[in-house]
Amino acid sequence: MITIDAIQGLRAQVDAWRRGGNVALVPTMGNLHDGHLALVQAARPLADRVVASVFVNPLQFGAGEDFDSYPRTPERDAELLESQGADLLFAPAVELMYPKSCEEQTRVEVPGVSTLLCGVTRPQHFVGVATVVCKLFNMVQPDLAFFGKKDFQQLMVIRQMVDDLAMPIRVIGVDTRREPDGLAMSSRNAYLTPEQRTIAPILYRVLTGLAEILRSGSSDYAGLQSQAVRELNESGFCTDYVAIRRAADLLEPVPDEGELVVLAAVHLGQARLIDNIEVSR
Ligand code: PAJ
Repeated sequence: MITIDAIQGLRAQVDAWRRGGNVALVPTMGNLHDGHLALVQAARPLADRVVASVFVNPLQFGAGEDFDSYPRTPERDAELLESQGADLLFAPAVELMYPKSCEEQTRVEVPGVSTLLCGVTRPQHFVGVATVVCKLFNMVQPDLAFFGKKDFQQLMVIRQMVDDLAMPIRVIGVDTRREPDGLAMSSRNAYLTPEQRTIAPILYRVLTGLAEILRSGSSDYAGLQSQAVRELNESGFCTDYVAIRRAADLLEPVPDEGELVVLAAVHLGQARLIDNIEVSR
């Protein structure tokens, strides 16, 4: 595996590879776990070359969020990516991605889907995500790009950006990797105390229960959402939202029509956890 931190070297290498086959990109913020590695594993059989990026993107963190304390483990990340057969690790410095300043950076704003759910409490978050992913796409020019369904709304934002801006990239969503007790793997799980770690899997259990009720035909969406919020708060979470939405566009569902997704965001101690389950009916 080659590690590169400059744009010229990256372009030269990827250009050469693209002449002989297709190239996949797996964007990450590092501190890699099996959820990230699942993306590399999904990419490997579909691409001749797999590029992974590690960049903790300041533009997508709000004031008072965890940009400074976000766990950074560069050596281990490189070892893990190499062990999964990644061909290139692109790990740029903040100054390379944003040479002027974050404020002066041109931004990519994806309307609609960015403003819902997590976009309500994290208003600039998806602008930061879309901007950095657009920039990574331009730097790497991949044929395929892999994103986790754990960040369902993020995946929708990226899909819309790619569509709206006619980017010639196939976006592939990868299923959420979970701990044995159901907790979705996340770098932010490291913020949980041992006691909070025993509470955390309740989030998945509550969402699974809700998904079951929806599969059995209930369409009392408001009632189910409030019941789930109550259960979560009684278990010790501070719930940001539980939302039953249409999987296609994250808008409010109509009974008996289309696929659903149940999404939630909660705070538990220092950690903000998100999770979701798709429901076909
Ligand atoms: P990060 O949180 O590091 O996640 C990188 C990718 O890994 C994302 O596509 C995310 O959905 C996926 N991922 C994380 N946990 C997962 C899990 N348990 N199962 C499956 N996939 C999982 O998401 C970001 O970084 C950033 O916003 C980024 C897209 C890199 C832009 O900065």
